[in-house]
Amino acid sequence: MVNYQPFLSKDTSLLKTSEIRDLLKLTEGREVISLAGGLPDPTTFPAEDIRRIADDVIKEESAQALQYSTTSGVLSFKKELVNLSKMRGISSISEDNIFVTVGSQEALFMIFNIFIDKGDYVAVENPSYLAALNILRARQPNFIGIDVDPKNGTNLDQLETKLRQMKQENKKIKMFYVIPTAQNPAGTTMKLEDRKRLLELASQYDFIIMEDDAYGFLVFEGDSPAPLKALDKEGRVIYTSTFSKILSPGLRLGWVVAETDVIKEMEIYKQNVDLHTPTLSQYIAREAIKRGVIMNNLPKVKNTYIEKRNVMLQAIEENFPKEAKWSRPVGGMFVFAWLPKGIDTTKMLEKSMANGVAYVPGSSFYYDYSGKNTMRLNFSYPSKEQLRRGIETLGKVIKEELSAS
Ligand SMILES: Cc1ncc(COP(=O)(O)O)c(C=O)c1O
Repeated sequence: MVNYQPFLSKDTSLLKTSEIRDLLKLTEGREVISLAGGLPDPTTFPAEDIRRIADDVIKEESAQALQYSTTSGVLSFKKELVNLSKMRGISSISEDNIFVTVGSQEALFMIFNIFIDKGDYVAVENPSYLAALNILRARQPNFIGIDVDPKNGTNLDQLETKLRQMKQENKKIKMFYVIPTAQNPAGTTMKLEDRKRLLELASQYDFIIMEDDAYGFLVFEGDSPAPLKALDKEGRVIYTSTFSKILSPGLRLGWVVAETDVIKEMEIYKQNVDLHTPTLSQYIAREAIKRGVIMNNLPKVKNTYIEKRNVMLQAIEENFPKEAKWSRPVGGMFVFAWLPKGIDTTKMLEKSMANGVAYVPGSSFYYDYSGKNTMRLNFSYPSKEQLRRGIETLGKVIKEELSAS
């Protein structure tokens, strides 16, 4: 058989597999409670509504819904996305500012490829979303890591200090990739005054912001602050969000809100990738917005997740050692834990899996693979009983590791 390794392009060899997907493979067919994934709870999918919509769309609009469509997205869907974005406080936009993507993952892939060259300075939160970091890693930028504190969130003092230092050295950050609301994985939410300050810094030091609002609609405690895009007066923010957490990830739908210049670049790029996002998915999601399915279903999603978060937090409180710290997420699907410094969560994983519980070691979420003592724990998918048992087991494993270190 041919060995394809020597034939691979240089770009391909830079792509990393997702550690989470590799990990999930290890748990297949085994009696393991997985706190490692990031799947929504399937009981939150409005399946019956989607069935009815799909039926209607195929009965009444099959000529269009089953056809090729435009690269930037189906116009009637983009109009509904203007309305949906308004519900996040993003106003003064038209369908020309909207671009439909195959999940927000494709939006991140396209934007990082459109804007980032080898050697560019790109700021990311430390930790940040693993799959976004992997796209960026392949672009070979110089990363600037901005720490995320479990209580105070993204450290803008640190960002400002770095910007000032870099200015003296004639260097410039090109882009800051940031998840201001229900940060994945750290679970923090940036305060409104910090959002305003970040935009001021972006203006003063002239960088663009890639805002990932994947969990913007999924804040289940307190208010969900306006996204940066809603506060953006200079068009510096490129915003993306997704249907994966509010309707169904299987539809593979995300969208971007940006200046028309950015939308044009995305159009050229996507023509080369996949021509357009599946038309049928767009018709279904359009109707789901129009008929109020998403907004009517959100309270159920939020209730499910706040209950599960509470179960996980309670279990952590009871079972983790006193020296550990963890986030108290007000939205999203994850708790992030900072264990005592001596513990290496990657090394501990094998033991944990042998005891029947999987998690994601936190170092993968750090651009520099630091954060060796951290872990990400998913509460959206496991049952409450699994959450209780999983955390109890994990607590024992951590305590054993601690006494051995
Ligand atoms: C922060 C963040 N951004 C983007 C995504 C990508 O999701 P999708 O491609 O399903 O929209 C995810 C998925 O978990 C995420 O957590």
